Amino acid sequence: MNAQIPKHIAITMDGNGRWGKARGLSRSEGHFAGVKAMEKVIDACISLRVEALTLYAFSTENWSRPLDEVNYLMSLPIKFFHEKLPQFMKRNIRIRTSGNLKKVPFPTRVAIEKAVKRTRNNDGMVVNFAFNYGGRDDIVQAIKAVVREKDVSGSQDITEMDIEKHLYTNGLPSPDLMIRTGGEQRISNFLLWQAAEAELYFTDVYFPDFDETDLKEAVCCWQKQRGYVSIYEKSM
Ligand code: FPP
Repeated sequence: MNAQIPKHIAITMDGNGRWGKARGLSRSEGHFAGVKAMEKVIDACISLRVEALTLYAFSTENWSRPLDEVNYLMSLPIKFFHEKLPQFMKRNIRIRTSGNLKKVPFPTRVAIEKAVKRTRNNDGMVVNFAFNYGGRDDIVQAIKAVVREKDVSGSQDITEMDIEKHLYTNGLPSPDLMIRTGGEQRISNFLLWQAAEAELYFTDVYFPDFDETDLKEAVCCWQKQRGYVSIYEKSM
């Protein structure tokens, strides 16, 4: 029997700053190490045949960080997509984004939008970058879009399906498994609507150290919770 795999995994990549500090490095160096871990997690999700992976890369709350750190985080997608886009094309990965890109510096926005556009016909795994993303903002913008679209005359005219249709994650399956690294057990405004039925998994591992084994551990935990055959029984 094949092991069931979560269709959609979402990850809060926390602990980069502390990872850097623990090594006498800067927070930005921690984020750089986080990018390397992110690349490995993408590879691991492809191997597991996950359909969609959402990565919490920059939250609406992250703007309050020191300017040099915000600037560094804004520079990451430019470098990352410049280097990785050819590989994503080769591997049939489709890039998506969730969040308000209008408020993101122009060069960063252009890099993200270019990746989304170039990969839009790929039909392999979706890698969805939550960038300038907030769960509350997501719900509010979806309600506004419904009101605009439907010419709503009363609140009874709005259904859950209408809102779903306008969320930033529209078209993706709801996340089955939401992982947070870095030891804190909070949602931090991530996929508030979409998390309704998700399994939450918290690990103390700082994101730069999070690897394929840790990912499989989380998947295995999800499989146990749901009463499915574990990947360990199958392949490890
Ligand atoms: C939280 O760790 C992490 C972030 C705010 C950023 C995560 C971003 C990446 C891993 C890379 C994104 C890259 C691209 C290409 C979009 P933290 O700084 O809050 O860690 P701490 O809790 O230890 O301080």
